[in-house]
Amino acid sequence: MGRKHTQSVAQAKDIDHCSDGLQVETHMTRRVRVITETWETPLITSYDLRLIDGGQLPAFTAGAHIDLMLPNELIRSYSLTNPQSERHRYVIAVQKDRASRGGSKWVHEALHPGNVLVIDGPRNNFVLNETVEKSILIAGGIGITPLLCMADRLSTLKRNWELIYCSRRRVDMAFIEILARFGERVRFNFDEEPGGKMLDIAAIVRAATANAHFYCCGPLPMLAAFEAATAELPRERIHVEYFSAKQQPAVAGGFKVVLAKSGREFTVPPSKSILDTLLDAGLDIPYSCKEGVCGSCETKVLEGAPDHRDLILTPEERDAGKTMMICCSGSKREKLVLDL
Ligand code: FES
Repeated sequence: MGRKHTQSVAQAKDIDHCSDGLQVETHMTRRVRVITETWETPLITSYDLRLIDGGQLPAFTAGAHIDLMLPNELIRSYSLTNPQSERHRYVIAVQKDRASRGGSKWVHEALHPGNVLVIDGPRNNFVLNETVEKSILIAGGIGITPLLCMADRLSTLKRNWELIYCSRRRVDMAFIEILARFGERVRFNFDEEPGGKMLDIAAIVRAATANAHFYCCGPLPMLAAFEAATAELPRERIHVEYFSAKQQPAVAGGFKVVLAKSGREFTVPPSKSILDTLLDAGLDIPYSCKEGVCGSCETKVLEGAPDHRDLILTPEERDAGKTMMICCSGSKREKLVLDL
């Protein structure tokens, strides 16, 4: 961690083809150039990113994501969709969100072939278990992105797997040509087309073999249905990736945060997260989603009882209380000592 630094608009202009406000690279980040942009659906565009001087990018595993350092200090995480065997490029796909807070809107409007931007990662919070008997992948909308990479990996390994990809209409479905290569392993569900209905996730789970592992990425209602359908299964067989928070952040404030390395103390005020309190004080803290779904702000806890609100930590990790996501989680006690 400790990777991100921002640079002023004036300084950032030194980077060739950079747009105003881009963040500069640090030792853990890289500059990449957009080679192609591909219109996948009316709302989804994919981008082929390569190092500006050529060469190999860091290896990644299926389910991984990278952070894009966008103007105005926005940082957004996007799953890698291309095969993990590829080292010369990262491919991401971005859906233009009608309620965009600036990330996907900026990408769609301003990111084009030739542009250079700074990325961080890759990092993987949605790890594929490559050794199991059967893997069932369930994707909804833009949730196909990490699962496409997993499908390729499972196919390469000649594992037993299937993918069910849900979308409202055919026209909204991305990567059709790539998915067609997998033949009958991929099934589609269009709930808004004539005769269409919502995917019956519970029926898929019931029909699966006893040791199957399930992976799901999609909109919140789909993830809620998935979690309900798999609630009785052993946790190690269930794999979920969220793109947005499902719980309110802990912003009641009123507790003290002590940074062990510097000895500095801060009082977190009501309506602010720990992360925002530290950023406002000028500290350089890594972060991305600010919603507890990417893991960028994970911080070791040396003392205290975190009030966890993220979607990264397992129940066991939450109970252990040794680490927390400071963008959304708070404190159950008056004082929290962090390894910062
Ligand atoms: S910034 Fe993404 S989990 Fe905290």
